[in-house]
Amino acid sequence: MAGLSLRHIEKIYQGGIKAVCDFNLEIKDKEFIVLVGPSGCGKSTTLRMVAGLEEISGGELYIDGVLVNDVLPKDRDIAMVFQDYALYPHMSVYENMAFGLKLRKTPSEEIRRRITVAAQILGIEKLLSRKPKALSGGQRQRVALGRAIVREPKVFLLDEPLSNLDAKLRAQMRTEITKLHNRLATTFIYVTHDQIEAMTMGTRIVVMKDGFMQQVDTPQNLYDFPINMFVAGFIGTPQMNFFNAYLVRNENNVYVKFGENSIKLPLQIVDRIIDKSYINNQTEIDEIANNQTESGIKKVVLGVRPEDIHDDATFIARHNTALVKGYIDVVEKLGSETLLYLNVEGREGYTIAKVDPRSNAQVNTDATFAIDMKHIHLFDAVTENTILDAFKFDDDDTFDAVTENTVSESTASKSMTKKSTVSKSATAKKTVSKPVAKKPAASKTPANEFVEQEEVAVLELRK
Ligand SMILES: Nc1ncnc2c1ncn2[C@@H]1O[C@H](COP(=O)(O)OP(=O)(O)OP(=O)(O)O)[C@@H](O)[C@H]1O
Ligand SMILES: [Mg+2]
Repeated sequence: MAGLSLRHIEKIYQGGIKAVCDFNLEIKDKEFIVLVGPSGCGKSTTLRMVAGLEEISGGELYIDGVLVNDVLPKDRDIAMVFQDYALYPHMSVYENMAFGLKLRKTPSEEIRRRITVAAQILGIEKLLSRKPKALSGGQRQRVALGRAIVREPKVFLLDEPLSNLDAKLRAQMRTEITKLHNRLATTFIYVTHDQIEAMTMGTRIVVMKDGFMQQVDTPQNLYDFPINMFVAGFIGTPQMNFFNAYLVRNENNVYVKFGENSIKLPLQIVDRIIDKSYINNQTEIDEIANNQTESGIKKVVLGVRPEDIHDDATFIARHNTALVKGYIDVVEKLGSETLLYLNVEGREGYTIAKVDPRSNAQVNTDATFAIDMKHIHLFDAVTENTILDAFKFDDDDTFDAVTENTVSESTASKSMTKKSTVSKSATAKKTVSKPVAKKPAASKTPANEFVEQEEVAVLELRK
């Protein structure tokens, strides 16, 4: 059991390739941290630096308060599980699990005890005498996990351990790893590019892109309060729809406009706009329109999740200030939900709506949709960062467009004031890392000297 502290960690590979830049994270004991991001964003490099399999170019890594930059992997008290299991083909399951402990000169009775416990946890007691080639993919993955468990490490590092498995087995192993974490009560750091794995397993998720941390938060906060368009697009399937838009104030209301669409923003969204200069005045817009130029307009990007676009008559009737028209080009019936691929005026490419499977939507027809405006997102069109304050979020379903339309503005404002208290759940942290130009630290020891015998064997096997 251990807490970790990663301070300004960076990795520069030979040739000047910056794989990880200014990575800062405090990991508490027993946390399940997931590093997620597209291929090449630096997830494995970060994990391998924690393991000691990769030299840290800059910054400091502490495990349980001890600086471990120069500590050998075997002395870091961590265990790593790889994507391709890396089992020794000529050894039985038992021997595979025992190998690391034998290297550490653990007494054979103790090895037997630990393997028995781990095999029980993973349900592989009957497989101990088999060779890896006589196991299914899921069973091999369990053995790889078992080999890590018997080490009784302070920290478990897992690098895409499920990506070789089929979809059904992945789902099953996902829950097994979550249960394993609960049972072992140990710190886990888990790497994946699969946002569903990240959302379902992590107590906190680190979203990475191009070597930079984008946002660190709980799964729900990442979904509700993405800090920028990258995180917004990465978390959630199908991904969020983005509309190039601008905001305009007309009398007491603020509208978001894209193409011919003009949708009134609920007061709780207006209240959350951090910088009100994003709201253009109608007179300015008129002037700019007369001059046939858009250069003076402050632009935003409207983000709408597919699940917030509705086609049922009741919702549409209750949200009649948030309507858009769309041509239904494709209908995908997935059983539990239906996806509609729409052509919406004012946006290139498809807009996706996730609607009820009993929807009457017909392909190749025009239809009207209503957006759940309480859950929209707004981003700066240039920086792509959110312009909404997460701390003012209050998801009170009693305040919907109907009440808003029928309540006078002053009454609505009062009710909003009452509700605009800081929500305890809204703890999205703003942790966008900025590129820092640092010189690579001078190499102290060749990286392979850090790699202990077991890891060398594993790496050899992976070639
Ligand atoms: N040994 C190396 N030498 C030079 N560059 C490397 C080396 N290993 C990785 N890189 C580069 O560092 C960057 C980060 O690689 P890394 O393996 O950490 O990505 P990742 O997020 O784990 O991706 P994936 O999801 O594909 O596994 C990539 O641009 C990669 O090409
Ligand atoms: Mg990787």
